[in-house]
Amino acid sequence: MAAPFNIPSTIIVGGGASNEVGAQAKRFGVKKALLVTDSYMESCGLAGKVADSMKGVGVNVTVFAGVQPDPTDLNVLEGLEVLRRNDCGMVVGLGGGSPMDCAKAISVMSVNDPPISRYAGLHKVPRKGVPIITIPTTAGTGAEVTKVVVIGDTRRNVKMMILDINLMADVALVDYELTMSCPPSLTANVGVDTLVHAVEAYVSVKANPMTDPFALSSIRLVSENLLTAFKEPDSAEARRGMTLASLHAGIAFPNSSVCLVHGMSRPIGALYHVPHGLSNAVLFPTVTEFSISGAPERYAAVSRTMGYSTEADSEDYANERLVAGLRKLNDDLQIPRLGKACEVDLPTFDENIVKMANDSLASGSPSNNPVIPTAEQIVDLYHKAW
Ligand SMILES: [Fe+2]
Repeated sequence: MAAPFNIPSTIIVGGGASNEVGAQAKRFGVKKALLVTDSYMESCGLAGKVADSMKGVGVNVTVFAGVQPDPTDLNVLEGLEVLRRNDCGMVVGLGGGSPMDCAKAISVMSVNDPPISRYAGLHKVPRKGVPIITIPTTAGTGAEVTKVVVIGDTRRNVKMMILDINLMADVALVDYELTMSCPPSLTANVGVDTLVHAVEAYVSVKANPMTDPFALSSIRLVSENLLTAFKEPDSAEARRGMTLASLHAGIAFPNSSVCLVHGMSRPIGALYHVPHGLSNAVLFPTVTEFSISGAPERYAAVSRTMGYSTEADSEDYANERLVAGLRKLNDDLQIPRLGKACEVDLPTFDENIVKMANDSLASGSPSNNPVIPTAEQIVDLYHKAW
């Protein structure tokens, strides 16, 4: 089947890539830019450094550091108000997935009618907004190169997924040096999220010849670098590998799709405010075990690429090793079970579990999974991951 493939027109990769922000901003011919980030990036001085780099080439910068983890429609509205008040002609998203998604959403809402919820789903954003530069500081969500944002809808208490080419950054600056100070637990959570992106892109019913090579490259890079990045945060080699893994997964999954892990993860984030990477990580081994029968040869290739099995092993054995390997990876990275991550007791969790299963199915992601689950099966999977 024919499939489109979209990536930003400029991706600059390597140590020091973020220093290019001024030169890249200047290309758009704007006088003022909105730097969208969070309070940590502001307090640690990185936001100031990026702003100085742009001011150095004559682009004035207003900093909006009000993005919360897993941003909501209210964050987008607040940032949009700052953009308009200061007459900013472009946005720069600096940080993890949250500030980058918020920056991308502010850009499209600068030219499209509110509310943002009307654009939830696929290909519904009519117009491209002001230019976007993305600079990730974690590895990673891949948000620097995706045409997707996930924004909380505060009215309905769900996470909206909005996918549209108009959300694509014009320039992504991928600088592993910015990830060196990422703390181990965050490195673990977003690192497994990267692996989920790559594996879901590879096993999805929408996988295609342009996404497979990036997905497999990302899986290999995670297997070679994630544990080292977690245990030895100062390893530049591991940080460089994970940044590339995140980038390759970020190229693969929006051009294929995510599947059931992401579908089940978003309701957990919306209701229990579990960070995105962690909510994916806690579900990953259980959902993989459930899904293998729909694409056993693809999952076996994942197992071999991860080094959990070899070409000489049977498909069944490779897939057994994959599930065991992913469970051990979570243990090694000190990723908790679902119950601990949600910080509620099971009866409380069960009060919402049918809504969560239905919200998961309504997001559309489970329909791309190698095995398409029923709502009852999703309830069962939440319990198995508990
Ligand atoms: Fe993700």
